[in-house]
Amino acid sequence: MQGNASNGNGSEASATQQLPTNKDNTPYLTTNQGTRVYNNDHSLTVGPRGPILMEDFHLIEKLQQFDREKTPERVVHARGVTAKGYFEVTHDISHLTSAAFLNGVGSKTEVATRFSLVTHGRDSPEGLRDVRGFATKFYTSEGNWDLVGNNIPVFFIRDGFKFPDLVHALRPNPANNIQEAWRFLDFLSFHPESAHMMTWLAGMEGIAADYRHLEGYGVNTFTLVNAEGKSTYVKFHWRPKLGAKFMTDDEAQSTGEFQMRHSHATHDLYNAIADGNFPQYDFYIQTLDPKDEYTLEFDPLDCTKVWPEEDFPLQPVGTMTLDRNVDNFHNESEQIAFSPAVTIGGIGLSNDKVLQSRALSYADTQRYRIGTNYQMLPINAPKCPFHNSHENGAMNFMEKTGQVNYWPSTLESVETSPEGKEAHTVSKQEVSGQRVKQDIPEEKQNDFKQAGERFRKMGVRERGQLVFTLSNWMADPKCTSEIRHRWLDIWEQVDGGLAAALKAALAGQKPLQAIKEGKLGGHPDKMGASKA
Ligand code: HEM
Repeated sequence: MQGNASNGNGSEASATQQLPTNKDNTPYLTTNQGTRVYNNDHSLTVGPRGPILMEDFHLIEKLQQFDREKTPERVVHARGVTAKGYFEVTHDISHLTSAAFLNGVGSKTEVATRFSLVTHGRDSPEGLRDVRGFATKFYTSEGNWDLVGNNIPVFFIRDGFKFPDLVHALRPNPANNIQEAWRFLDFLSFHPESAHMMTWLAGMEGIAADYRHLEGYGVNTFTLVNAEGKSTYVKFHWRPKLGAKFMTDDEAQSTGEFQMRHSHATHDLYNAIADGNFPQYDFYIQTLDPKDEYTLEFDPLDCTKVWPEEDFPLQPVGTMTLDRNVDNFHNESEQIAFSPAVTIGGIGLSNDKVLQSRALSYADTQRYRIGTNYQMLPINAPKCPFHNSHENGAMNFMEKTGQVNYWPSTLESVETSPEGKEAHTVSKQEVSGQRVKQDIPEEKQNDFKQAGERFRKMGVRERGQLVFTLSNWMADPKCTSEIRHRWLDIWEQVDGGLAAALKAALAGQKPLQAIKEGKLGGHPDKMGASKA
């Protein structure tokens, strides 16, 4: 029958429904056009010594497909790995959100989670000192929700306008392709709000041991909206059941089975899942009533701050279990596409300026990196039905029938949602003010307090690690004395003891020596360690 094709299993499928597969649906090798290959060893030539003929379509197809095998890598978070599994609710939070998948203890939702490093390329080592990404796609019955977080609870900057400069400074020097500390110290010295983040990145938490022992944080502030339309600010947290684990620089040098330090974290995750040791992560929220948002000494929408757990206790919600590896790395890890703006009724964004810039950036880069119709790929498409008038575009493989590709229409009966709760992704807060390009009000900037408190709570080993990393960065021969002094000024405001220890370390004293001489203060009995 014209237009129909056999799917190889004896049943008939329309040609457009037949997705390409490498499953053994023919006993013969074929070209991508389905033509049987009679010789898969040699090019078509004139005589055995050539030349090669242009009419060898199979050769041209094979080489040209190969020439295009690499898609552009992610502009950040290029190095990563995905695993699949499910999320199960342990504590109902329907009083906070109308999102159906979070309501009802025992409710299960399919997920895919991609862990990553931020700064370097797609094949870079996994033992580097760097932030780790922790991004989860929840395939809910009401559409996809992406929670795109990191393993450090705060961020370097509080306005997404600065993100490209931040990433340029952290990346290798454009002149020599080497990552050099003086460059990010230079840039960040103009952004004292980054001091808090630096105490994490340069501290014990700067090199995560692997992905099974990884914490995750939504970092930005989001908004939950319940069925009555009431909004609550929220921060999201993942805690690995195995505990969080980190590595020292020395451990990172020789990590992994057979010293497979290049890919040790991918290896570890893949093998654990293949062996049935499924990693699990508990999911928590912290909440804040928007009526109290101006009562804190910091701005709760400023992602350079944590909400202290003593004041905003973690509330359990559920557990994620990763029990399946990807079937194909390119299809499900390279092409998986997350965005903090991909959300469902009951979960909204907030006015957090980093989050708002993120809302634009992800889908924009994905349309470039993967293609116009990236949302149709099986790993990205929702598992629930979807329907709209979006049309065409390169590589569109959606089967569409009918004559109405506009809305509304007298001929098509699809309606907007009768429940209307999807409007709960949009904040109900009133917004007013002049158009300005300004930082948040100075009295709420409070850039040093949380960094100082964190330093003062650290044990001796944690302080030693922090001073070791920071002083090594500042000792970069290309770090000018101006950059060094700008940072010493910042650290002085964070904690006088920390600044003194850094000066001593820069003068040639080993950080642990400085600690012994009391230059770091701290609790000599409390050595500090990974949280495992
Ligand atoms: C304004 C600030 C930011 C901008 C403009 C931005 C932009 C981007 C872009 C363009 C990508 C690549 C996406 C892709 O190619 O699929 C990305 C990836 C990512 N970003 Fe951000 N980002 C920002 C801040 C953050 C923050 C604060 C976090 C943590 C909460 C974060 C977490 C991630 C993660 C985890 C990924 C990797 C997602 C994956 O595994 O595919 N980003 N970001």
